Amino acid sequence: MGPAEFILQALGILALMARTVIVGATGAVGRELIGLLETSTLGAGDVVALAGSRSSGASIPFRDKELLVRSSEGFDFRGVDLAFFCASSQVARELAPAAAAAGALVVDNSSAFRMDPKAPLIIPEVNPEQIRRGPGITANPNCSTIILLMAAAPLRQFGRIRRIIVSTYQAASGAGQAAMQELRDQTLDYLHGAPIMPKVMPHPYAFNLFSHDSPMNEHGWNGEEWKMLQESRKILGQEDLGVNATCVRVPILRAHSESITVEFDGPAPDPEAVRSALAHAPGVRVVDEADRFPMPNEATGQRDVLVGRIRRDLSNPNGLCLFACGDQLLKGAALNALQIAEAALA
Ligand SMILES: NC(=O)c1ccc[n+]([C@@H]2O[C@H](COP(=O)([O-])OP(=O)(O)OC[C@H]3O[C@@H](n4cnc5c(N)ncnc54)[C@H](OP(=O)(O)O)[C@@H]3O)[C@@H](O)[C@H]2O)c1
Repeated sequence: MGPAEFILQALGILALMARTVIVGATGAVGRELIGLLETSTLGAGDVVALAGSRSSGASIPFRDKELLVRSSEGFDFRGVDLAFFCASSQVARELAPAAAAAGALVVDNSSAFRMDPKAPLIIPEVNPEQIRRGPGITANPNCSTIILLMAAAPLRQFGRIRRIIVSTYQAASGAGQAAMQELRDQTLDYLHGAPIMPKVMPHPYAFNLFSHDSPMNEHGWNGEEWKMLQESRKILGQEDLGVNATCVRVPILRAHSESITVEFDGPAPDPEAVRSALAHAPGVRVVDEADRFPMPNEATGQRDVLVGRIRRDLSNPNGLCLFACGDQLLKGAALNALQIAEAALA
């Protein structure tokens, strides 16, 4: 056996022995992650599903068995190698530090630690050099930020990016399972002429759209827009990057879309060169023909971020326009988290 085979075998044995915990296993992101662990070596060891008291006692099919969902309350993280947090920021703040202190490699999907200077904020295709190996908290970026940077970061090979203008068209799934159900229910109500009663989202959702349902700050930016600015700067290590974001929730069940204009310091690259560069970018699929462009229903269930509508910004010689769609439950959340863990343990 050569050294490479030996290392691979050792990694496989380690994965078989790893104890993995999913906090928030019953939610939209948690369920996607469990689906991905079906085929990842990281799912080969002991997998523990935790949730809130609501789902305690439920079971989730996994590989050839059922995972019994347990309450996270009082859970002892000692002996846990890997902990995926797929719950709220509050739950992450309460439990993730204890998990890390007990020796687990924590990957948190919430926004709790994203701007914490001690927590790396990782998109493995963009800033792999910052991946933390060993115990500690790594933050998974916001889903809209991941989709944006999967499309825009590879363009840095053409010159320094000065500014990004982005408008999002965000799906219900970004707000979790309850929001998806609300969109289904409201669509039926609307078509049957029944009154629309928003419960999860702040506004009527079926056949409507509205500014992202996160609180506005003192600048008039909603929380999602602010995250796209701050997180992009941290991931790219570029404090002076301009990001002008407008985030909108649209009545799509799954997969976010983004209209992106990238402004370079100098003249924008030729669209054909960009198409070729993006075709070689890992995790990106170019869909860019006269009558073919990225659409959320084609991005749904896909690991790749779809990028198309690659064209010059005719109002600015330094500008280049793109349109991207990505399944934010996969690359925007569960898949990115799994890729971080796989890279950290490799
Ligand atoms: N949805 C997305 O596209 C997306 C993308 C990126 C990041 N995120 C982030 O990922 C996190 C999860 O989002 P989601 O969309 O999956 O939400 P979700 O569908 O509402 O699921 C929330 C999960 O948290 C669990 N939970 C509630 N209280 C808990 C507690 N005390 N201890 C442990 N688990 C608890 C819930 O369990 P019960 O079944 O018991 O209620 C459920 O499993 C959020 O921080 C979100 O901002 C989401």
